[in-house]
Amino acid sequence: MSDIKKIKDEYFLKLSKELDINQINQIKTDLFGKNGLVSSQFKQLGKIAEDERKKFASELNNVKDELQKLIVSKIEEIEIKEINQKLEKEKVDITLPERPFADGKIHPVSQVIDEISSIFSEIGFSVEEGPDVENEYNNFTALNTPDNHPARDMHDTFYLDEKKELLLRTHTSPVQIRTMLNDKPPFKIIAPGRTYRSDSDQTHAPMFHQVEGLHIDKDINMGHLKGCLNYFIKEFFEVDKIKMRFRPSHFPFTEPSAEVDIGYEIKDGKIIIGEGNKWLEILGCGMVHPNVLKNVNVDPGEFQGYAFGIGIDRLAMLKYGINDLRAFFDCDYRWLNQFGFDPIDVPSSYRGLSR
Ligand code: DAH
Repeated sequence: MSDIKKIKDEYFLKLSKELDINQINQIKTDLFGKNGLVSSQFKQLGKIAEDERKKFASELNNVKDELQKLIVSKIEEIEIKEINQKLEKEKVDITLPERPFADGKIHPVSQVIDEISSIFSEIGFSVEEGPDVENEYNNFTALNTPDNHPARDMHDTFYLDEKKELLLRTHTSPVQIRTMLNDKPPFKIIAPGRTYRSDSDQTHAPMFHQVEGLHIDKDINMGHLKGCLNYFIKEFFEVDKIKMRFRPSHFPFTEPSAEVDIGYEIKDGKIIIGEGNKWLEILGCGMVHPNVLKNVNVDPGEFQGYAFGIGIDRLAMLKYGINDLRAFFDCDYRWLNQFGFDPIDVPSSYRGLSR
């Protein structure tokens, strides 16, 4: 029997037995390694008489292919066996109860800020932000607020230094100044955020929220202000008709200035917006004072426009029937579970598991 045939028979026999991966690798080396049996046969080729060589080579190649195929199929067999063993061992017990999924809730104030931002962005306002720690200039001076104005008083404002140069912003109006100093007109922005005043009772908290609005262009007038607020209030309260009135008022940064009330009535203990004979104040507004425009290098001879400031907490309380402002800031998880909102991107199948 030729050497090739012998190798083939011997190794077919070996490979027919139960082997592990190390044993197979050893066989691979024995046959095809640098000095392996098959590799050595190839080295013989040169020594064989020419008329025999072709036959020998073809026989050798066939045996090589057959052995290699057998080895590959043996390895696959072992791998499949291992996977099956693993599956058997690591089986998942689907009868186990699932773990509770604790989904968070969106705070009503965050929810209302999102709603306000989306309503105004639909009519071309972009959303700006400013820092809670503000300087005296942006918060008061640039907004045309005189030195003796009561808002500057320590009883009203949280100052952060002896010199009264840094403070917690008392309103979102300084974002008007920051925006206009940073860019060129026209401006059409809203700026929601936290604001602070030294005040605390059932309807006032030392920290509260406002949204500022500012629209400056060459021909913006009070009619635009009225149209914009009317649109916003209807969209926000999801009603077709509202009653709205402008009462003359005074703010140092607007001239003329107004406070805006909306009509409401109470039916079955619930507030209905847009009907009835009662009035509720919801915001301050006016035409931006020429001095403010001068302070931010905008020419009041060329540009004009309106501004407004809305109390966000009040709107949230009205829309969602919450009657104590202080609950907003108590961080009571049970309260948040009742008044908070489900995040929209949590699949509904997950919701409710925590409750
Ligand atoms: N900043 C005012 C406040 O906190 C609200 C306000 C009134 C803002 C009139 C404005 C405005 O932009 O034009 O009471």
